[in-house]
Amino acid sequence: MIKTGNLTKKFGKLIAVDNISIEVAQGEVFAFLGPNGAGKTTMVKLLTGLLLPTSGSIAIAGYDIAKEPLKAKAVSGYVSDQPFVYPYLTGFEFMRFVGDIYGVSPEMQRTRIPELLEMFELTGWQDALIESYSHGMKQKLVIASVLLHKPRILFLDEPLVGLDPKSARLVKDVFRALSKRGTTIFMCTHVLEIAERLCDRVCIIDKGRIVAMESVEGLKKLHASRGNLEEVFLEITGGTEYSEMLKYL
Ligand SMILES: Nc1ncnc2c1ncn2[C@@H]1O[C@H](COP(=O)(O)OP(=O)(O)OP(=O)(O)O)[C@@H](O)[C@H]1O
Ligand SMILES: [Mg+2]
Repeated sequence: MIKTGNLTKKFGKLIAVDNISIEVAQGEVFAFLGPNGAGKTTMVKLLTGLLLPTSGSIAIAGYDIAKEPLKAKAVSGYVSDQPFVYPYLTGFEFMRFVGDIYGVSPEMQRTRIPELLEMFELTGWQDALIESYSHGMKQKLVIASVLLHKPRILFLDEPLVGLDPKSARLVKDVFRALSKRGTTIFMCTHVLEIAERLCDRVCIIDKGRIVAMESVEGLKKLHASRGNLEEVFLEITGGTEYSEMLKYL
């Protein structure tokens, strides 16, 4: 469902995404990990057609994103790292707006919008302006809105940031249920527990390059002595070399 070939993105001299080739299968939950500035958000922006690659190819559900960008976008949904909403729309209006953009029929919107708002506990707020929503409520609204058109592929950039434990659990359960129904999920996250529990495969990047790509179990086996993904991650991406600097405290 997602295939990249030697994908590279440069910003001037900086190579943010460096020659990345990956394939993600239908129904797979793929975690994209890496330190701050590793190139995760840049990668998602390339996959969603928001940035043009410097070189390399991207196919989304078989559509070349350079040649058939609208078809690729129609089958996918994107939750960015900042909840992107219009403050002077109500939650309900925002859902209708997103539904219209994705060509969801008015009949379908009439049933699906109330269902999704209820699932994300936003029904009581549906007629309030989004500017009055908390960060977590905006995040839930965005997640609800990308599910309206039943995308086959979801791109999620830190989708759980700012969610309370109950909402985070709900969102994780939603993602799990969607993947069981065949939705492919590509998720950038810093929350290693999510990668460990929710994802089938983990790709760790550092300075734009893949440094590890394995099933969670495979990664643990590689570093059997470490036991959990946090230690594995720290070892692969440079560990706790700041520890010397703690003396400045
Ligand atoms: N529009 C841009 N112009 C110039 N440099 C950019 C731009 N966007 C990203 N970069 C650079 O590309 C690199 C990768 O950034 P990116 O946002 O993809 O990292 P990230 O892995 O998502 O980090 P984080 O974990 O902090 O979200 C960084 O060095 C960043 O400064
Ligand atoms: Mg990022």
